[in-house]
Amino acid sequence: MYTPLELQFMEIKEQHKDAVLCVECGYKYRFFGEDAEIAARELNICCHPDHNFMTASIPSYRLFVHVRRLVVKGYKVGVVKQTETAALKAVGENKSNLFTRRLTALYTKSTLIGEDILLNVVNPVILLNLDGDSADVEDLTDDLPCNYLMCICEQSEDEGSSKGRHKPGVQLALVAVQPNTGDVVFDCFQDCPSRSELESRILCLQPAEILLPTNLSENTEKLLSSVTASSLRDDRIRVERMDDIHFEFSHAFQSVSEFYAMLDIIQLSRLPSLEKPVVCCLAAVIKYLSEFNLEKVLSLNRFSDKSLCMSINGTTLKNLEILRNQTTGSTRASLLWVLDHTRSPFGRRLLKKWVTQPLIKAREVNARLDAISEILSSESIVLAKTQKLLFKLPDLERGICSIYHKKCSTREFFLLVSSLSCIETTFRALVPAAESQLHSSLLRNILLELPQLLAPVQHYLKILNEKAARVGDKTGLFADLTDFPIIQQRKEEIWDVLSQLQEHCSEIRLILKKPSFNYATVSGLEFLIEVKNSLLPMIPKNWVKVSSTKALCRFHTPFIAEQHKRLLQLREQLVLDCSVEWLNLLDQFGEHYHAIRKATSHLATIDCIFSLAAVAKQGGYCRPIVLEEERQLVIRTGRHPVIDILLAEQEQYVPNNTDLHGDGQRVMVITGPNMGGKSSYIRQVALITIMAQIGSYVPAEEAVIGIVDSIYTRMGASDNIYEGRSTFMEELTEAAAIIKKATSRSLVILDELGRGTSTHDGIAIAYATLEHFIKDVKSLTLFVTHYPPLCELERLYPENVRNYHMAFLLNEEEDEQKDEGKGKL
Ligand SMILES: Nc1ncnc2c1ncn2[C@@H]1O[C@H](COP(=O)(O)OP(=O)(O)O)[C@@H](O)[C@H]1O
Ligand SMILES: [Mg+2]
Repeated sequence: MYTPLELQFMEIKEQHKDAVLCVECGYKYRFFGEDAEIAARELNICCHPDHNFMTASIPSYRLFVHVRRLVVKGYKVGVVKQTETAALKAVGENKSNLFTRRLTALYTKSTLIGEDILLNVVNPVILLNLDGDSADVEDLTDDLPCNYLMCICEQSEDEGSSKGRHKPGVQLALVAVQPNTGDVVFDCFQDCPSRSELESRILCLQPAEILLPTNLSENTEKLLSSVTASSLRDDRIRVERMDDIHFEFSHAFQSVSEFYAMLDIIQLSRLPSLEKPVVCCLAAVIKYLSEFNLEKVLSLNRFSDKSLCMSINGTTLKNLEILRNQTTGSTRASLLWVLDHTRSPFGRRLLKKWVTQPLIKAREVNARLDAISEILSSESIVLAKTQKLLFKLPDLERGICSIYHKKCSTREFFLLVSSLSCIETTFRALVPAAESQLHSSLLRNILLELPQLLAPVQHYLKILNEKAARVGDKTGLFADLTDFPIIQQRKEEIWDVLSQLQEHCSEIRLILKKPSFNYATVSGLEFLIEVKNSLLPMIPKNWVKVSSTKALCRFHTPFIAEQHKRLLQLREQLVLDCSVEWLNLLDQFGEHYHAIRKATSHLATIDCIFSLAAVAKQGGYCRPIVLEEERQLVIRTGRHPVIDILLAEQEQYVPNNTDLHGDGQRVMVITGPNMGGKSSYIRQVALITIMAQIGSYVPAEEAVIGIVDSIYTRMGASDNIYEGRSTFMEELTEAAAIIKKATSRSLVILDELGRGTSTHDGIAIAYATLEHFIKDVKSLTLFVTHYPPLCELERLYPENVRNYHMAFLLNEEEDEQKDEGKGKL
């Protein structure tokens, strides 16, 4: 026999088989069956058999900590709440039954948004210290920084095209959404058998969760299992499979059009222009997110628009250590680490985007550089005040998104609205000064636009009651009730009952002959009439005894009993009414979502600019001259931005020059002893180019950077060992892919190509490849090699090629290493 609670659990579990369910039972949340065992294992709590199931429980106020822990470990977690309140239940039809319960929220890595999580906006460390609960800090600061949900699907090439011909290529599509920031990107591309394009995008977006159809090609599966297997501690990518039917085009197209028609946004007109597989992904994402009530976030943004940013593929991201270092996989010692001096979480997210998507329009690069120069040279109070403001902002981007999803707490809402309104006031006051003092168009536009975008916010701050909002009391939330007639009416009803009870009090005074009599409240029970035992004979028979002590008894008159019951019902009803109005308010606020989101992204941009200005301030950095038409890289006394910082004071990085011209000297063949600094040098050139195109100052005395459309890298065999692919094979595939994609506007760096095979073959491959780059691709090329025969190419192509030798002198006395720069061979 199952208990009623168990039956209820089984029914909900049946619909959400894949989720670990936390079930609200009074002041606890309980787990049942396998869920209890998982909870015991992952949360370090006990579980024990009870009736038919194993069970385990956690106190309600700790729910958010435990949900988070389970989610971080990769589980899908469901929260099942009691949906009835005691007083209303007592008069309802459901009187004698179990509390009704319903699944109120589901969470996974990418969808960790909601009231149970509580810490969306506020810095978790600060909050927890307040509660004196330091044990959890470590857990929570580990907050998932990026949480893209990425959906991938593929379409094999020969569908539709001529059959029989063997085509190894495949068309892949992806849609990636960050439900807590509202970021949506999508892309459709051809990929080779090693799926390197897909890998690039996964490395670049670093999704927390991947949504896949049940069936994918073997090659794709292989890549996915290799990217999802590698992980630091717990941040493994969570994989969710969805039935293939949801990816089927006609089905997908219909559900996507219905979805956008319902949202009633202009996006619908763009639908036909989307590639088929993108529509399929979109449909699956909509379906998946609606399970979490997060689907509204899908308004479309184009991702890799090839014409807008430099293309840096996954291999290059890894080789140049742009987001993470290759040794430990953390951000330390990466390019992002060097550039990141941002103050806000949303600024940090934007900077990450900037770093992986350098610009290719000189005008845009210069707009950023102008802004940085102005920050370095200007003494305007506008900039000082702006920077000061950035220090203390909560995560606005996530905050407005959780409002948009209607999943924020009143406290978060208040915090957000008051921050936004403070920003609005500050910037409005700065408008005249900004107009007269600022020259950079980027800064001007942002600072002048911000107050307009944020104007709607003030209204919300005005209608809120701060104290109630902070403690989460929705019944006291609205300072002015004129716009909320239902709440007004309910409150009047309550006052009415209260005043009747007050009147009743004077009748009681008469009966008790005690003019000073007043109701007492004891442990939550209100309107009690306390009577000394000696006076008991005076008490009318129909009074109901509520409780008693040795000295006295406490009563309710029949009238009080009735009114009290009604009062409790009205109060619960008020809570429900207020929740409805609260949701309406969030809905209304959601109409300003796009404007406020734009304001947030403006703030993020300013944050990034200040971050780059902090980089520029360091000694030995200069403003690069960025040109769009020229094909050249001229760098005087350049340094590797990361090694430069890592080397201790006394062992300074030895600067190097670079002088490459598309029409002349465009290929450097570099030889030299091991540990000569060759690899560091070619990376340095690539990193300086990337920094310049991000719009950052660069570590050099002087730099002229002709914009490159892409950077390709192929690094030494030992630097890069892949699972399941032979190095030689890997080398050749990568080199072939570079040859196919590089243009005369690209920068290509090849480190010891040919090392994966015998010397003889190696030389032949290296020679042929290099010659191809010199003659046909015509890209700017840095080629590190151990093979002397390659130096012969300088003789064959004296116009375009030059040989360099890289060496270092060791200063014995100080035991420090010193390059002698590059001497010509
Ligand atoms: N210009 C430089 N100044 C100081 N140290 C350098 C410089 N270039 C490289 N190094 C250091 O020398 C070491 C070897 O560099 P690497 O580029 O791997 O040499 P190679 O590729 O020639 O074997 C690295 O640990 C790096 O930190
Ligand atoms: Mg090397």
